[in-house]
Amino acid sequence: MPASKTVKLNTGAEMPTVGLGTWKSAPGAVEHAVEFALRNGYKHIDTAAAYKNEKEVGAGIAASQVPRGSIFLTTKLDNPDQKEASEALESSLKNLGTDYLDLWLMHWPAPMTKDEPAVADPSHDWLDTWKSMEALYKKYPEKLKAIGVSNFSVEFLERLLAVAEVVPAVNQIEMHPSCPSQDVLDFCRGKGIVVTAYSPLGSDNSPLLTNEVVTKLAEKYDVTPANILVSLQANKSGVSVLPKSVTNTRILSNTVIIDLTEEEMKELDAIDKTHHFRACHPSWTGWGSLGFPDCK
Ligand code: A2P
Repeated sequence: MPASKTVKLNTGAEMPTVGLGTWKSAPGAVEHAVEFALRNGYKHIDTAAAYKNEKEVGAGIAASQVPRGSIFLTTKLDNPDQKEASEALESSLKNLGTDYLDLWLMHWPAPMTKDEPAVADPSHDWLDTWKSMEALYKKYPEKLKAIGVSNFSVEFLERLLAVAEVVPAVNQIEMHPSCPSQDVLDFCRGKGIVVTAYSPLGSDNSPLLTNEVVTKLAEKYDVTPANILVSLQANKSGVSVLPKSVTNTRILSNTVIIDLTEEEMKELDAIDKTHHFRACHPSWTGWGSLGFPDCK
């Protein structure tokens, strides 16, 4: 299937397939990256309260002078804020300098304390967090255009859908050839939930950029290894993808999407069979595997 330009959410909204990721984009670098990306054709920016860069992302949006209505903006409810979803939403809106979010995600099904460092908080149930998010979504449609989740395994999605009144629009998960997450993708497709791939390159110092399957295809199509990795996700139906960069040349280059064949996509995702890794293992939350079979 050829790569998509936009992906339709269950709300009817169109999410641009490729967005700029900002995990690990430090304050100081991210304002410029967001401004540069928006001035050069990006229409989708992803951030999170946990990244501690929402203010700079907002400044980058303002500096770009791109109208807010032309931008798809996502942020996420931080784990220590799960008991105070309403306050957290207002804080994110203020930090980003915007009246509304195109998408607001529960960052992890993993409530944590406000300690430094934060630890797992068993006194709160993330299902109650979803209920708070649903209530805010219904009460303030002008502030929240869509709600969704992130880092949800099939097991946790099943638990969510058993009680949810609003089906999440999106599940944002780690997805690259060493973590294809096919089980989550298949489940989400069946429920009309868009999957957004984070760390599509494999994050910092990724071995995927020099993997021989990736470099062979990069040579064949005369593109960079990063282009192959972003294209792989953009070629999947119901998937959007968030390459992260703070480097101008890479921000520009990462939007070059090519059409891959089914066989090439299978060959890329088969890398996982011999070299599996996660850039972000769920156990950092103190909640164990969060239902991901490869993390048990
Ligand atoms: P930087 O931000 O310094 O440009 P992921 O999207 O999988 O999280 O990967 C992000 C990492 O990949 C960052 O270290 C980023 O570096 C780097 N990166 C982003 N784009 C490219 C590219 N086109 N080629 C090589 N490395 C890249």
